[in-house]
Amino acid sequence: MSRRIAPVLAERSDDPRRAINLTVNGEAVTRDVSTRLLLSDFLRHDLRLTGTHVGCEHGVCGCCTVLIDGHSARSCLTLAVQADGSAIRTIESVAADDGTLHPVQRAFKECHALQCGFCTPGFVMSIVSHFEEAGTLDLSEDGVREMLSGNLCRCTGYQNIVAAVRRAAELMGRGGKG
Ligand code: FES
Ligand code: FES
Repeated sequence: MSRRIAPVLAERSDDPRRAINLTVNGEAVTRDVSTRLLLSDFLRHDLRLTGTHVGCEHGVCGCCTVLIDGHSARSCLTLAVQADGSAIRTIESVAADDGTLHPVQRAFKECHALQCGFCTPGFVMSIVSHFEEAGTLDLSEDGVREMLSGNLCRCTGYQNIVAAVRRAAELMGRGGKG
């Protein structure tokens, strides 16, 4: 017999609701949402931005990483109402409008840094955020692995993801120590 497991923060019809105004990938969004709604569910279900993946739903795997006001954040640990007034960027915003891949995406492709791809949007968003926020990049083996430490991958063994970070730095003209 199958058993249906309800999401921890599933919406209920009697939940209090609140209006939120935010920017998602450069577009203004206004919605009335349950105060229990997770940002990850808001992005995926309300806005249909399904590139943000959900793995563990408790802050461990990093699949749900998005940028909130330029900083990487786990959207499964953020309520939609907490993002009120913020600028959100998801994986859908990373490539150019004409489809040209972001250098981090291009590096993942060149270095075969994905297999099933489930973890990839989260890795890309974490790396993009790190590249945008860090002054000098630490491209040593330890430095890159530290950069990737908030994201889990069950397929690749990480070595090609490390290579992709270095290749992305090269493509972006971002030298660094290491
Ligand atoms: S789904 Fe958010 S950290 Fe795993
Ligand atoms: S490529 Fe499958 S989990 Fe990372």
